[in-house]
Amino acid sequence: MSSLSTKVGRLSLERPGMVASGIMDETGPSMIRMLEAGAGAVVTKSVGSEPRPGHANPCFTEVEGGLVNAMGLPNPGIAEFKAEMDVAVPKGKIVGSIYGASAEEFAMLAGKMEDYGACAIEMNLSCPHAKGYGMELGTDPVIVKEISSAVSSAVSIPVWAKLTPNTHILTQIAKAAEDGGCDAVVAINTLKAMVITPELGKPFLSNKFGGLSGPAVRPVGVRAVYDLYDSISIPIVGVGGISTWRDAAQYIMAGASAYQIGSAVADQGPEVFGRINGDLVKFMDEYGYSSVEDMRGVAHE
Ligand code: SIN
Repeated sequence: MSSLSTKVGRLSLERPGMVASGIMDETGPSMIRMLEAGAGAVVTKSVGSEPRPGHANPCFTEVEGGLVNAMGLPNPGIAEFKAEMDVAVPKGKIVGSIYGASAEEFAMLAGKMEDYGACAIEMNLSCPHAKGYGMELGTDPVIVKEISSAVSSAVSIPVWAKLTPNTHILTQIAKAAEDGGCDAVVAINTLKAMVITPELGKPFLSNKFGGLSGPAVRPVGVRAVYDLYDSISIPIVGVGGISTWRDAAQYIMAGASAYQIGSAVADQGPEVFGRINGDLVKFMDEYGYSSVEDMRGVAHE
């Protein structure tokens, strides 16, 4: 039988599907629920130095093919988050997602996540709508290299950079992360988006802009992973619009070593992980792929 175990650089996973940052990953018990449903790891909600309430409602809405959200990076702050990590870490692999406004802040947060038992760090360099954070830093290769280098020197666990698709220099950004010492990149975060309510003549979201996720972004994500596979030497984690084994297979064939699922958890519940694990193994058995590694990047051949 084909094997779903995989490696993202130094990190080994029994299953290639992880929970993407931002869904069912704010508390210890919800993270455990996702691990028990078949996720190979959980990426936490992005956590910053101080508690942050996030944007006022409405902060998300459904659209054809996905969701547009502007949660505004709500989180309890790194000190409070230790209690959630204490609950979840003994039960499985937890990747600590962090956001900051400077290399020093990222390095401090990464050190805390390592102390709390995270198996890897995911740097949020890609939130499309939080002032002073995310893609405001993550679209400048000089800043990305500086942050990557500070965080990689501050911790001994693997460091991943989550990248934004809202740039025409994605491969340069990824190269900067690689040059700064990152172990892997995660592609993609949401596409900057907007919804207007015609009856009110106003943007729907309180923050005006948000990020589009879900099936509509999948072809953008697959293309991004395909481009990155040709441009960098470090592993890639694919994310964006995965809700079936076919979607997961596309990302792996484009070059991803593992993948993350976000919006489909909201749609199908945590059971999406078990379903995709089972269906993916069946496909791999039938088509003669013995492992994820065996299938990775085949679309380039
Ligand atoms: C949010 O909390 O607003 C979303 C975070 C992100 O897009 O990275």
